[in-house]
Amino acid sequence: MSKSILITGGAGFIGSHVVQLFVVKYPEYKIVNLDALTYAGNLENLKAVEGASNYVFEKADIQDEEILKAIFEKHNITDVIHLAAESHVDRSITDPLAFVKTNVFGTVNLLNAAKEFWKENLADHLFYHVSTDEVYGSLHDGGFFLETTSYDPQSPYSASKAASDHFVRAYANTYKMKTVVSNCSNNYGPNHFPEKLIPLCIHNIKNNRPLPVYGKGENVRDWLFVKDHARAIDTVFHQGKDGETYNIGGFNEWKNIDIVNLLCAKMDEKLGREVGTSEKLITYVKDRAGHDLRYAIDATKIQKELGWEPSLQFEEGIEITIDWYLNNQEWLDHVTSGAYQEYYDKHYEA
Ligand code: NAD
Ligand code: DAU
Repeated sequence: MSKSILITGGAGFIGSHVVQLFVVKYPEYKIVNLDALTYAGNLENLKAVEGASNYVFEKADIQDEEILKAIFEKHNITDVIHLAAESHVDRSITDPLAFVKTNVFGTVNLLNAAKEFWKENLADHLFYHVSTDEVYGSLHDGGFFLETTSYDPQSPYSASKAASDHFVRAYANTYKMKTVVSNCSNNYGPNHFPEKLIPLCIHNIKNNRPLPVYGKGENVRDWLFVKDHARAIDTVFHQGKDGETYNIGGFNEWKNIDIVNLLCAKMDEKLGREVGTSEKLITYVKDRAGHDLRYAIDATKIQKELGWEPSLQFEEGIEITIDWYLNNQEWLDHVTSGAYQEYYDKHYEA
């Protein structure tokens, strides 16, 4: 096979879409999906490719040096696309160390494993680090995040992702590893774990449960359909220039309360409920500590230099997303049993 690509975090939300895209589009590549299967990892996300001849799953933790070494050797890994991470901001507020362990220590461990395995010809192999727009901090006076915007992370999650980005660039500078980093805005779509705003609201509307909106619901996020992010990752992996950073975004800013209202209206229609029924579930709750006001990505560089742009309008993507959740009740039942309910009750003080 021409390449043997290690994709970490491939059982998670974004990772599973990236794995599926690569397995189907590039039958000549071997795709090795490495995932620890934490609460956020789910092999049900990968049913479509589990029997594919160019696909292998390895259950492993990126904090484990010996396992990483063995996996690089066993599959003769030629490139890495690194997505494994603790990803939920609220969880980072209650348990920052878990984020340091996976996002910082785990990333450096993975960089070391790659550097050690590729040491004879580092320039022939790519380490692609997938990161977030949250590293740039919070926008208060208009403007957009550019690739040149200074880092200013505000939450334990974004601080851990910023640290991991810095380590990747430090390895490029110090050891001449070939690297690219991309920083993306909020994703939404099928397989999104229902601790995050959009799937949580879809799940709660369906079950007539309160829709917890933090603060006044005025915070703004830029939303991108997950398959468009996966397409962007494909583009950056194949065309991105060594050492560069690419911002990825949807050109699609929404206040949280407007998204929740949109979901309520669409769900009323789909569930055959009277107009205005779901809106009554909106409940303003205590704000997230240190809640970033606004994120907004300027994705002109990837658009102009690599020719990528989002393929879906937001309303179209939201329709697909809601339909996916309504048609995949079993998936939702599995992920919302047990540990999810405990987390939910504790976080929202039910
Ligand atoms: P997710 O939480 O849905 O999935 C993370 C995956 O990583 C899970 O499958 C989990 O099992 C795995 N994982 C966690 N710790 C691990 C460890 N120690 N070793 C091996 N595997 C481990 O996250 P996501 O939303 O799919 O995000 C994926 C990546 O994209 C993350 O790096 C995140 O920072 C970044 N990102 C996410 C978004 C977003 O909106 N979700 C936006 C921009 C960037
Ligand atoms: O910007 C990219 C980031 O987007 C990624 O790096 C993160 O991994 C991903 O989780 C996401 O972070 P957010 O904190 O923006 O996503 P979340 O869905 O948790 O929250 C979106 C907005 O909705 C945010 O302003 C907080 C608010 N919110 C969230 C929840 C869970 C609520 O008002 N109520 C809620 O119950």
